[in-house]
Amino acid sequence: METNTETNQVTMMPRIGDMAPDFEAVTTKGKIKLSEFAKDKWILMFSHPADFTPVCTTEMSGFAQRKEEFEALNTELLGLSIDSVHAHLGWVNNVREKTGVYFDFPIIADLDMKVSKRYGMLQPNESETAAVRAVFFIDPNKKIRLIMYYPLNVGRNMDEILRALKALQTSDKYGVAMPLNWKPGDKVIVPPPKTLDEMNQRLNDDSCERTDFYLCKKSL
Ligand code: BEZ
Repeated sequence: METNTETNQVTMMPRIGDMAPDFEAVTTKGKIKLSEFAKDKWILMFSHPADFTPVCTTEMSGFAQRKEEFEALNTELLGLSIDSVHAHLGWVNNVREKTGVYFDFPIIADLDMKVSKRYGMLQPNESETAAVRAVFFIDPNKKIRLIMYYPLNVGRNMDEILRALKALQTSDKYGVAMPLNWKPGDKVIVPPPKTLDEMNQRLNDDSCERTDFYLCKKSL
């Protein structure tokens, strides 16, 4: 929970299924308003604790190096930290000079912490001055579909971020669910029956790999 100092109202951290709170922000690619950003696309919004720090450099490089994979999944990247746009520019240029990797996506300069507070990225028992490593998966309707939070000392896993995005998109497209460790090409879970009639039908349905009526898998 977060208290808005102007209205004294308590704001809940966004949760899965909530509409992504709208905001305007300055980024390394100019000003954006979330509700007008990346129309009809998925948005992956992620925070990092601070520019010019080692774990963050590896993570941001990971996002940059796999940007084309995100683009192929109709997804725009949007970074954030509580640093100035000048610090962002200096860091982006420094990493490009040192490693050849270019962070070619907008990074929010959240100096007043408005966005990070609203999205629960500031977790004071972890750090009072830096955002934790959050990832918000926002669908084309601007609904939050998945949230990850990592602490300051553990970098995220880019394969898992991409896998989770593909799982969400595949689930939406085919109306199915994804089992443990699902990856593209694996069998998916057929939604379980909700009535006795559907249950009896499922018990006679040989079109899917049935463990029992409530657990059936199929290939796509
Ligand atoms: C890092 O990215 O290495 C880092 C950033 C803030 C605190 C600790 C580590």
